[in-house]
Amino acid sequence: MRDVILAGKNLTKKFGDNTILENLDIEIFETEFTVIMGTSGSGKSTLLYNMSGMDRITSGEIKYGKKDISKLSERELTKLRASDFGFVFQQMNLVSNLTLAENVKMAGLISMNLSEKEAIQRTELLLEQMNLSSAKDRFPIQSSGGESQRAAVARAVIGKPKIIFADEPTGALNKANTEDVLNILTEMNQGGQTIMLVTHDMEAALRGNRILYLEDGKIMGELKLSQYEGKNKQREEILAKWLEDMRW
Ligand SMILES: Nc1ncnc2c1ncn2[C@@H]1O[C@H](COP(=O)(O)OP(=O)(O)OP(=O)(O)O)[C@@H](O)[C@H]1O
Ligand SMILES: [Mg+2]
Repeated sequence: MRDVILAGKNLTKKFGDNTILENLDIEIFETEFTVIMGTSGSGKSTLLYNMSGMDRITSGEIKYGKKDISKLSERELTKLRASDFGFVFQQMNLVSNLTLAENVKMAGLISMNLSEKEAIQRTELLLEQMNLSSAKDRFPIQSSGGESQRAAVARAVIGKPKIIFADEPTGALNKANTEDVLNILTEMNQGGQTIMLVTHDMEAALRGNRILYLEDGKIMGELKLSQYEGKNKQREEILAKWLEDMRW
């Protein structure tokens, strides 16, 4: 039996008169890699921001364990996000006056899960995994988009968050950088971390084992895939066919 780690119930999100999410129910299961797909403007990012406590729903509840995160104070929410959640977005805001390595290490210290020694060790390990060992002492402005994004992924996962939220993390990357970012997400997932990923990219979606399709602020379909174990033609065909059925 899969355990629910995060549950959105009756979620409604409005911007002014515009209803973006309407009475939506969603469950994220522990250790699963859940992917959200759907056309542009269907509310994917909105759903991710609200589920992760980056934004506040208009009505409904979001249960993380016993807590309803939609009812937490800003302070409690900030603390929870730092300790339990990791974030990767398309536009990464690394701290400009810290090197890539310092950006990663700092996040490890701030997440409060790591000692100085652990933060340094994990930074080294993650930078190696992300093929960043040679770029680690550069500042963001001296780094390529791919290097910055890989550093941002390392930063997001250093505190071993329970859930990693990612919104189009590969949207601006070339093939090699996309592979690096997806490989680390896959590895985190295989190590037991839960992932919620929003993407337009088939390669990225194929890393998931459960795909939800969003349309007009509602979940219109769900596809279960096997756990990712390397490229597999059959998974690709199943996903492509399903997306066609969803009229993606
Ligand atoms: N802060 C905001 N204020 C007003 N409207 C917003 C805001 N954020 C999003 N919207 C609107 O909500 C709708 C859904 O936006 P959202 O960013 O969630 O879509 P999306 O599915 O992530 O699209 P994309 O695939 O293009 O990223 C859009 O019509 C958007 O214009
Ligand atoms: Mg979006």
